[in-house]
Amino acid sequence: MSNHKILLEESEMPTHWYNVIADMPNKPAPYLAPDGSQIPPQAMEAIFAPALVEQEVSGERWIKIPDEVREIYKLWRPSPLIRAHRLEQFLGTPAKIYFKYEGVSPAGSHKPNSAVAQAYYNKVAGIKRLTTETGAGQWGSSIALAGQMFGLEVRVYMVKVSYEQKPFRRSMMQTWGAEVIPSPSNYTESGRKLLAEDENNPGSLGIAISEAVEEAASRKDTNYTLGSVLNHVLLHQTIIGQETRKQLEKVGDYPDVIFAPCGGGSNVGGMMFPFLADKAAGKNIRLVAVEPTSCPTLTKGHYAYDFGDSVGLTPLMLMYTLGHNFMPPSIHAGGLRYHGDSALVSQLYKEGILEAMAVSQLATFEAGITFAKTQGIIPAPESNHAICAAINEAKRCKETGESKTILFTLSGHGHFDMASYDKYLAGGLEDYEYPEQAIHDALDHLPKF
Ligand SMILES: Cc1ncc(COP(=O)(O)O)c(C=O)c1O
Repeated sequence: MSNHKILLEESEMPTHWYNVIADMPNKPAPYLAPDGSQIPPQAMEAIFAPALVEQEVSGERWIKIPDEVREIYKLWRPSPLIRAHRLEQFLGTPAKIYFKYEGVSPAGSHKPNSAVAQAYYNKVAGIKRLTTETGAGQWGSSIALAGQMFGLEVRVYMVKVSYEQKPFRRSMMQTWGAEVIPSPSNYTESGRKLLAEDENNPGSLGIAISEAVEEAASRKDTNYTLGSVLNHVLLHQTIIGQETRKQLEKVGDYPDVIFAPCGGGSNVGGMMFPFLADKAAGKNIRLVAVEPTSCPTLTKGHYAYDFGDSVGLTPLMLMYTLGHNFMPPSIHAGGLRYHGDSALVSQLYKEGILEAMAVSQLATFEAGITFAKTQGIIPAPESNHAICAAINEAKRCKETGESKTILFTLSGHGHFDMASYDKYLAGGLEDYEYPEQAIHDALDHLPKF
């Protein structure tokens, strides 16, 4: 049996992020204001560090990772690529299964890859405070960690249901010195408005984004940070795919198919973009984003300009969307409950370069438990979506006898998600299909200009 872990030395860690915009067949559509006029990139500097705005619109293929950022990455990177021998044996498949494990970061997921970079550029720009939102708590933890590393204050608006369901994610953020506010809150105009309509509003990622953006826009010493969706976030995550390519080269292998769980698209972009040039050059590789049937943004959403938040404070982006006032059902993969998707991922999907599929909640937990029993690691519920797709592919290979190479991102561990596993094991979880009617109705709420 070949090795389980395929490791890189710290010195082999990539020195640059890869910017997919340089190689896209069609350039991305611009961000727009509500009246349909184009937003100049400089306007984004009201809430983002200038270097991040530059990255957002850059056409440069390679962008240097600052030494300060690489030094912090080295605390856990390069992350391991692992051959899932035990899962393969359990499934009796001729396929080879590899996973890139991002749960080795201090926050437990891939999110610090961008959090550290964002905190660094804000520090350089003289910013003192950062605001952000968090759903499941993975991004909030990551920015709390990164803020601490660069001496920045951090305020996290945490979706109220998660704040109540996940007290230890909150403690984690507080341990790293962040302030955590349940959203909607009385701290912002957006929050007060929603609470006046319904004091029991459970919150959503879209609402928490509105609060964090509003606060950052109202204070000169404060900037906003986002954990997914934006081009610069996906850029920072490309360290994942680049490391993976080097690791596969070491064992002389190459994927036939890559699966990654898709919320806003940052680990999809991070893993898959570095493989896109090969695909463009004729390599036969499938790149598949996996989302929940309860939040089927790519597979059933509308490709249209929409806001990134609930209240309508962000620029309009051309993306797949379920409508910015989408109220997510309370499924247990909190990080995948977002109405929109990265504009880059959306465009590449629209153009048929990326694929997407939706899987149901019970199937994802079943897959996560099979994975935990064979490989040991208890995955984040978000990551279970990719595992589910990978297992299904491996089972297909068993039927056809194909020895495909399957790769997926294990985007995080599930150590703070055990309440969800408890519920699944007690038979208390259900499948949920987002209703066709709600998808149709979302059309009425899309901005018109
Ligand atoms: C572990 C994990 N995986 C995946 C995601 C989905 O986010 P993205 O689509 O930006 O990778 C999240 C989001 O919070 C997450 O925490």
